[in-house]
Amino acid sequence: KSIYVLNGPNLNLLGVREPEIYGYTRLDDIKASCEALTTAAGYTLVFHQSNHEGQLIDWIHEARTAAAALIINPAGYGHTSVALLDALKTLTVPIIECHLSNPAAREAFRHHTYVSHVAKGVIAGFGPIGYELAISAVLRLIEQP
Ligand code: DQA
Repeated sequence: KSIYVLNGPNLNLLGVREPEIYGYTRLDDIKASCEALTTAAGYTLVFHQSNHEGQLIDWIHEARTAAAALIINPAGYGHTSVALLDALKTLTVPIIECHLSNPAAREAFRHHTYVSHVAKGVIAGFGPIGYELAISAVLRLIEQP
């Protein structure tokens, strides 16, 4: 089985985009550190980024049968997308919501995310380390639910 890590819009520009908020680490580097952790635990990492809501939804549907757990940084879609929430509701495996920044400490429109309604937990504010924390969390959840 696989561990899915999905990334929403604008995260392809990580390292370049608003580095004072999101830092200088690139998404490829985050993927590499996730891969090291999942491979060491005997799982396959499926790591994707898209700027398109429908593409993210298609990957969530794929995860229904392929994933042991799903980590998602929905980026801006977390605050807006009921469709993403509905797709996540079709999953039975643990869902972890992950944000680089701490949306609760930012503008009011970032305080609510639809993904939180179905997330087992939320990791926010730790930058790229948050993805590693999320992988560690799902590995423990899978092994001792
Ligand atoms: C983000 C926080 C969101 O509010 C924002 O729209 C993003 C990135 C984060 O990782 O901190 O694009 O999800």
